[in-house]
Amino acid sequence: MSTISITVNGQQKSGTAQGNTLLVDFLRSELKMTGTHVGCDTSQCGACVVHVNGESVKSCTVFASACDGAEVTTIEGMANDDGTLGIVQQAFHEEHGLQCGFCTPGMVMSIADILRNNPQPTEAEIREGLKGNICRCTGYHNIVKAAQSAAATMAGARQAAE
Ligand code: FES
Ligand code: FES
Repeated sequence: MSTISITVNGQQKSGTAQGNTLLVDFLRSELKMTGTHVGCDTSQCGACVVHVNGESVKSCTVFASACDGAEVTTIEGMANDDGTLGIVQQAFHEEHGLQCGFCTPGMVMSIADILRNNPQPTEAEIREGLKGNICRCTGYHNIVKAAQSAAATMAGARQAAE
């Protein structure tokens, strides 16, 4: 066992982990942050996506020990400071981008990453960017619409700030 310290959603957190403890298990079991989901044991579903030092990562593929000292953003960090839904979350709500919601944390984190790297993606680019995320419910159509809606909202916010 060793002590792992990470900054999660801007807050310093510490906990103990074994050498083979996965980041997703550290978040869920040690830090009690259960917004990040585990949907498979084959690294395919993407329900566990978080951002580590600004990069989108499947947290079931990374050891917690490798993240010691890292900055991690989880779905809990995607809301606005006042607790209202963040832009991507709000877009999911408005476009009916979820049904059971199991895939949604990973979808939101992946779309945030897509839009950070490509603020105005085409539909094809959104679908390509979501290849690592599986949804069993929606047929993806409304998830893509949510990504497009979030991109439009972010573009509007950028224009308003200019
Ligand atoms: S739980 Fe990580 S990819 Fe499925
Ligand atoms: S909304 Fe159910 S798995 Fe995507």
